[in-house]
Amino acid sequence: MTDSAQTLPEPEAVGALYDRLTRTALNDGTFNPNIHIGFWETPDSEATLEEAVDTLTDVLIERLLVDGSHHVLDLGCGVGGPALRVTRQTGARVTGVSISQEQVKTANRLAEEAGLADRAVFEHGDAMHLPFEDGSFDAVMALESIIHMPDRQQVLTEAARVLKPGGRLVLTDIFERAPRKEVPHPSIQKFCRNFMVTLADADDYVALLHRSGLRLRGLLDITEHTQQRTFRELARPTAEEDRPEALGQTNLPDLFRPADMLGVEEFGCLLAAAVRP
Ligand SMILES: C[S@@+](CC[C@H](N)C(=O)[O-])C[C@H]1O[C@@H](n2cnc3c(N)ncnc32)[C@H](O)[C@@H]1O
Repeated sequence: MTDSAQTLPEPEAVGALYDRLTRTALNDGTFNPNIHIGFWETPDSEATLEEAVDTLTDVLIERLLVDGSHHVLDLGCGVGGPALRVTRQTGARVTGVSISQEQVKTANRLAEEAGLADRAVFEHGDAMHLPFEDGSFDAVMALESIIHMPDRQQVLTEAARVLKPGGRLVLTDIFERAPRKEVPHPSIQKFCRNFMVTLADADDYVALLHRSGLRLRGLLDITEHTQQRTFRELARPTAEEDRPEALGQTNLPDLFRPADMLGVEEFGCLLAAAVRP
């Protein structure tokens, strides 16, 4: 199930999904500044989901190789949790872009409240057409956001364009692990449909990066550190997120629950790092 065989997400509809999700979370007390899965170093790690979510941001930060002299672009920045962490940990300036107006408003408010508004700025925009000059950034991160974008090639080409020579790209994406089936597992199909995402073709990822003008630095299957444990944690009966509405789903005929993904080992997560030569 590669981009061409899947229903492509429409940026405007994805923006509306995240507007709704943000408003719901702010109103019902489930608001979280990070909207991504966790990373556990080892299977017996006792880290909580909240800690593991920050660890995944740190896994990206390590590969961004930035300090206080650098400017980072966060593509699909959510409500700014990861970007503020980048600024706090490294001193780098961050510009975040999200297709959701509500997220941008919330992220700028959080930056202001954290006293970081001079280092972290959030803008509404579409990652497919970035409103920045060529060579504007030292690094680009895209944490669990390219999954919603209708054309990975275009997004990566845009990321390469706005990177300075020597600039780093780090991202996470989702894909179907081997052995691949003719028709993906029904839970994967439901997840993709309800959350407007598509699966990447992992076999083509290196070529995708190269066609975008980037040089591969690393491509890792991080599923066993991330996806499987995250769904296990979310599926616990007491987990706030184990409610379809907490995941932004309303008026859908077939709601996705985290427990649907238990044992679905083919639902994979990859980490890619590249550099603009
Ligand atoms: C799962 S959230 C991840 C948010 C953030 N990276 C984090 O980890 O907290 C996906 C993000 O991608 C953004 N997004 C999806 N499609 C986009 C597009 N075409 N242009 C810009 N942002 C987009 C959404 O608005 C949302 O902020």
